[in-house]
Amino acid sequence: MVQKLVEKFEKLYGNGGEIQKYFAPGRVNLIGEHTDYNGGHVFPCALTIGTYGIVRSREDRVIRFYSANFEKLGIIETSLDDLVPSKKAGWTNYPKGVMWAFEKRGYKLTHGLDILIYGNIPNGSGLSSSASLEVLTGLIIKDVFGFDVSMVEIALIGQDSENNFNGCNCGIMDQFASAMGKKDHAIFLDTNTLHYEYAPVVLENARIVITNSKVKHSLVDSAYNDRRNECETALKELQAEVEIQTLGDLTEQEFETHKSAIKDEIRRKRAKHAVYENQRAIRAVAALQAGDVKLFGELMNASHVSLRDDYEVSCEEIDILVDLAWKIPGVIGSRITGGGFGGCTVSIVENDAVDTFIETIGKAYEEKVGHEAEFYVVDIGDGAYKIA
Ligand code: GLA
Repeated sequence: MVQKLVEKFEKLYGNGGEIQKYFAPGRVNLIGEHTDYNGGHVFPCALTIGTYGIVRSREDRVIRFYSANFEKLGIIETSLDDLVPSKKAGWTNYPKGVMWAFEKRGYKLTHGLDILIYGNIPNGSGLSSSASLEVLTGLIIKDVFGFDVSMVEIALIGQDSENNFNGCNCGIMDQFASAMGKKDHAIFLDTNTLHYEYAPVVLENARIVITNSKVKHSLVDSAYNDRRNECETALKELQAEVEIQTLGDLTEQEFETHKSAIKDEIRRKRAKHAVYENQRAIRAVAALQAGDVKLFGELMNASHVSLRDDYEVSCEEIDILVDLAWKIPGVIGSRITGGGFGGCTVSIVENDAVDTFIETIGKAYEEKVGHEAEFYVVDIGDGAYKIA
């Protein structure tokens, strides 16, 4: 496939020069949802699907972008002197944002690039296609210009570009998973300190199955930013009573003792989710490390209930998928994953039950919702890399 992309690149931009190839993956989060901007823990892993980039340096300051996913848009041309967000730049606002964030840190991009992009993450599925594009761009810039930046810094640069160039106030999880992923491992990341540990995902006789609801409700970004604001206000109210830096500093018991400091019922529910979900993530990782996959699954289920009832980021279609999954023998755990309001669920399913899972849920979902779901039995892949 990469060879085909190179051929396409040469057809578009001409032959010659040195052509480089890169890949950055999407991610799925196993547990620890909406905790990454609350100083809590997350437990994502990189997928083997993601975004490919084919690149060649130019001598001028022109940047040409082409996406094999949006062929009709053709070549989109810009310049290093025009790194400002604009509606007409469309998807290229993501790579442009990363270039902007490098320059902001004092890394000077001294010449232009021809870039071809191709992604195989299903569009709008909540599996971090935009973070993978950001991390891909970060790796390209680091490599082409020889900048001495770590992959963790590339993740932070990606987040900065998303927050301050593209206007979504996301946490660090997605970019971190795409930059730092490791085959067959999930990343246990403390988002407060960025301390991380790789945990082998040993599921014995089970697989990770992602189910795409194929719905994406509008207002995702604004609802996401609302949740963030609610948590920030709740934190301030709690800080009047207890000395904490983030909601992730609290245990469940401490939260229960001090929760009356939060003056609004909705905000109390949001903060409760952040505190409990963080503790759940910590417990879930310990369970997995101890080989207790069953407990890991139970904590995934509890995570869903909390995201549905307290954080209110689920939706009817996702709840249907999770309810169906919970009823199937051999399903160890199932929950919504990612930002919410549509997108995907993640389930751990015993090998013997995978076919039944796909068949039963596929049929029932289509009957109830009126369109098909999609299923991906996934492997855990490496973080972003240069292709030799
Ligand atoms: C989105 C954001 C992440 C994280 C998740 C929810 O994917 O980009 O930073 O907050 O939602 O866990």
